[in-house]
Amino acid sequence: MNSLKYKVTLLLIVTGISFSFSCKRGAVGNSDVDMKVNALLSKMTIEEKIGQMTQLDPGSFDGKESIKAAVRDGRCGSLLNYLGPVEVNEIQKVAMEESRLGIPLIIGRDVIHGFRTVFPIPLGMASSWDPEIVREAFRISSIEASSQGIKWTFAPMIDICRDPRWGRIAEGCGEDPYLVSSFATAMVKGIQGDNPADPTSLAACVKHYAGYGYSEGGRDYNTTNIIETELRNVVLKPFKAAKDAGALTFMSAFNDLNGVPTTANEFTLRQVLRNEWKFDGFVVSDWGSVMELINHGYALDAKDAACKAINAGVDMEMATTAYSDNIKQLLKEGKITESRIDEAVRNILKVKYELGLFENPYVSPEAEKKLLDPSFLDHARKVARESVVMLKNDRSTLPLSMNITSVAVIGPLADAPRDQLGTWCFDGREENSVTPLKALRDILGDKRVNYVVGLKYSRDKNKSDFDKAVAAAKRSDAILFFAGEEWILSGEGQCRGEINLPGAQTELIDALSRTGKPLIVVVLAGRPLAIGKEVEASNAVLYAWHGGTMAGPAIADLIFGKESPSGKLPVTFVKGAGQIPFYYYRYNTGRPASAKSYTPIDSIPVKNQQTSLGYKSSYLDYGYSALFPFGFGLSYTKFNYSDLSLSSNTMNSNGTITVKATVTNTGNMDADEIVQFYIRDRVGSITRPIKELKGFRRIHLTKGEKSEVAFVLAPDDLAFFNGTITAAEPGEFDVWIGPSSAEGLHGEFRFE
Ligand code: BGC
Repeated sequence: MNSLKYKVTLLLIVTGISFSFSCKRGAVGNSDVDMKVNALLSKMTIEEKIGQMTQLDPGSFDGKESIKAAVRDGRCGSLLNYLGPVEVNEIQKVAMEESRLGIPLIIGRDVIHGFRTVFPIPLGMASSWDPEIVREAFRISSIEASSQGIKWTFAPMIDICRDPRWGRIAEGCGEDPYLVSSFATAMVKGIQGDNPADPTSLAACVKHYAGYGYSEGGRDYNTTNIIETELRNVVLKPFKAAKDAGALTFMSAFNDLNGVPTTANEFTLRQVLRNEWKFDGFVVSDWGSVMELINHGYALDAKDAACKAINAGVDMEMATTAYSDNIKQLLKEGKITESRIDEAVRNILKVKYELGLFENPYVSPEAEKKLLDPSFLDHARKVARESVVMLKNDRSTLPLSMNITSVAVIGPLADAPRDQLGTWCFDGREENSVTPLKALRDILGDKRVNYVVGLKYSRDKNKSDFDKAVAAAKRSDAILFFAGEEWILSGEGQCRGEINLPGAQTELIDALSRTGKPLIVVVLAGRPLAIGKEVEASNAVLYAWHGGTMAGPAIADLIFGKESPSGKLPVTFVKGAGQIPFYYYRYNTGRPASAKSYTPIDSIPVKNQQTSLGYKSSYLDYGYSALFPFGFGLSYTKFNYSDLSLSSNTMNSNGTITVKATVTNTGNMDADEIVQFYIRDRVGSITRPIKELKGFRRIHLTKGEKSEVAFVLAPDDLAFFNGTITAAEPGEFDVWIGPSSAEGLHGEFRFE
């Protein structure tokens, strides 16, 4: 199989981000580490080796003493969910001083979008299209988490997802391979810092490898069938980017991929990850995913499961004991080899050395102070602000004047401190959340805020407070309705068949709309919801996701125009669950639909003759377009795109092409714009998507200011895997520079 010619360096030139890719691998050079690892390995018993391949949760032990005994005996080389500087130092001391070889533990935890300072859910962060602020957010999370003894986080989660029913869409960065790759790189750099051995650095764990985000029907843990072209051109790209950014560990996934569960998948784990990409860190299973090979019907029992996972390349088992219970017997039976065990242990020890754990196994008690630093909270507010996407703003309803006499604040998410933290938030505390209600009261004072919750939680159907809410709206100058989903409705295992606003929220929005007062709907949710009706009923809509600790002040900053909304959608918003999957990076089909071909269901005559319906690829009810396209997002100002130019109308296999356009802020406010660059390969040896993002840049323009934005394309950017080879194919290409995937200035060139 040919390796992907995917060059992250180039991606970053195109996006204008200048990261260094030379990830320093600890204080010691690689060969030193190898020598140390080999020396240590040669002293280890098979039991000690098995211990290194075992990661356990404190819940699987019978109290602290039994954890200590396992660590002392070398039966467990890693713990997850073991927290606190004192506790971690105590157990680490057992590993360092009481175990025979003094091998440090590696302590892991899910730090997915913040530790105590909680940032927006990753899908929200991705709406910022600002990898640099996200890198910094992960840096902050690592500073906080490392202060509590954590040295390894199960992040970034970079599963491409095109199905908002899947609860875990919240945890990823959206639907597009380029955008997700850019964030994967930034997140790894933030987590691991410049040097993984720095006390504030953690090892990143890139997950879930691979294809988990394609679970059929958006039902968690479900089967995935992904042909190799799609796998390599889309799904694997962010993983390769994360590997190139220096990620030290990978996590196999729960899903069955093309008939072979990913936790026993030799193609992804051995052929792609090790042989082609030369990954030299270690692979951990997902929680219990080794034992789940039995449920998949891929392994007979725990011994068979261990055998298959080990041979496929999973070095460490998370949470279950198929490895520790069976490796010796498997060796005896010759089903696994000692050299494979040595390889796994070598991979693990190498990472422990690179993390500096042998030299500095303990956490400084001083580090405790590094939580919720004001500068961290400021950054969380900035990230939350950049994550908000404005979907509608009729007649400049927003921003509101600070002199407004009063506002009605209504809705289940207005004052829901836990919900705004979102899914996968183990260490954030709701008492640290600043809710929108609190932020608005801080700005306007209690008297100017007429608060009625209306619905107590997002699924609430009790309408008894509707009258009160409507009355509050009537005596206010504007209505701010905070809609959305509780945190528990997204995340692992939390999938939905319908993706509308839950409970009676839509009815309350309708009732409020009928007051005739300006109605601003702010959505705090873990997924892109189908909110067509609510958008119609309101005058302005801000999509704020679950924005984390500082969601309230960030939203208030935008409501009162301290800054303009600037986020853009990292995922297509569909009109309803029945339209899924629908994403911008799709194929044209033989019968692409357009405004001309489409017959809306309501305009079909009662006694229709079939021939008038167009026979194009669309739905009678949803039509052929998205509710909001990928890359969409409005601003308080206006940006004009002009003067698209190409450095040449041909590109050859040694050359590059520069595509430029001028962006002018023609509105009345200084603001950021996210300039997007797309291409289309018109004809290929396999069909090519109708648009592919190849670059983006967030620029700041003051009123009246203009800027020329340039993107460089090289042949590798045109390359794709066609089932046999990865190459750029000669032919005609379209390019666009614009504000979303659905608009832009157009140009073309020929690749020779
Ligand atoms: C999830 C992983 C997570 C692991 C450890 C699993 O259920 O799929 O994403 O890292 O648990 O908490």
